[in-house]
Amino acid sequence: MSQFLEDVLKGLSAKEKYLQSKYFYDANGDKLFQSIMGSKEYYPTKCEMEIFTQKTSELVTVLTGQNKEFDIVELGAGDATKSVHLLKGLLDNKVTFTYFPVDISANVIDLLQNELPKKLPTLKLQGLNGEYFKMLEKAKTLSDKIKVVLFLGSNIGNVPLEKAGDFVTLLRQHLKPGDLVLIGFDLKKDPKTILDAYNDSCGFTRDFNLNLLRRINNELQGNFNLDNFYHYPTYDPATGATKSYIVSKVEQQVSVAENLFDFSEGESIFMEISQKYTVQQTDELAKQTGFEPIHHFYDTKKWFLDAIWRCV
Ligand SMILES: C[S@@+](CC[C@H](N)C(=O)[O-])C[C@H]1O[C@@H](n2cnc3c(N)ncnc32)[C@H](O)[C@@H]1O
Repeated sequence: MSQFLEDVLKGLSAKEKYLQSKYFYDANGDKLFQSIMGSKEYYPTKCEMEIFTQKTSELVTVLTGQNKEFDIVELGAGDATKSVHLLKGLLDNKVTFTYFPVDISANVIDLLQNELPKKLPTLKLQGLNGEYFKMLEKAKTLSDKIKVVLFLGSNIGNVPLEKAGDFVTLLRQHLKPGDLVLIGFDLKKDPKTILDAYNDSCGFTRDFNLNLLRRINNELQGNFNLDNFYHYPTYDPATGATKSYIVSKVEQQVSVAENLFDFSEGESIFMEISQKYTVQQTDELAKQTGFEPIHHFYDTKKWFLDAIWRCV
């Protein structure tokens, strides 16, 4: 049984049904995520892009102030539209490095391997298709240089707050003293601005969530009728958790690889969390898990933080 099928059956059999957001990204999911990033409501990409385009030389200075030669491992690289500015800045400054983009989507890695050399012909690049930590280990076997890990786009937000410490501890265990992490955090702000970002008026986020049901239909012999479900995002300003659900409009039965699942009217499938942080919370997270925060980069609105942490 594939890991995808095993995880889907486990999630749909749970008392409170859920699906894992890492499975959003088939070729169609990758495309829809790009549309989300381009939507007027989805501010995180624009804020982080501002940091990467307006503060490139400061980023280069802080990263190269620590080490002159290193590898860049980008976890969940996606289309690398932001990191490409940093990569160019490093190349312009004649810094020696290899770029290892890691992504669970094979489509993403193929795309990066085809497109990046056109934009940055001198870039040393090796794409790694697979899970974050497995591929980080692989990068370590390919080169023993200091690692600069990029974890952008608020990917850390997809880990629930109570598990973020475990996740970052695990990241630390895969690294050595002196290695660096450049990690993006979406910061707490006006709750309406946050909720709108997960409920864009063009419906890209809705389609992105429903696309996972389509992927299950295509790849796991599912028979979800997408018209019988709707997308329901929530934001709790007290905890900082944005959660996305898919809700059943009717009482219905769905089959996945010959396994039957009953849905009552109004029953939900939990799809994804996107946790928002205060700056203080991010500093505490670093210090509690073996990192030292050494620099904070913000956009002009101070809606997004790219923090640089050093492994101690
Ligand atoms: C929200 S997108 C962000 C992309 C990019 N970092 C950015 O900031 O625009 C998340 C990316 O992480 C990848 N991803 C999600 N979970 C992953 C996992 N467990 N291991 C490797 N890649 C993963 C997805 O395929 C997707 O390309």
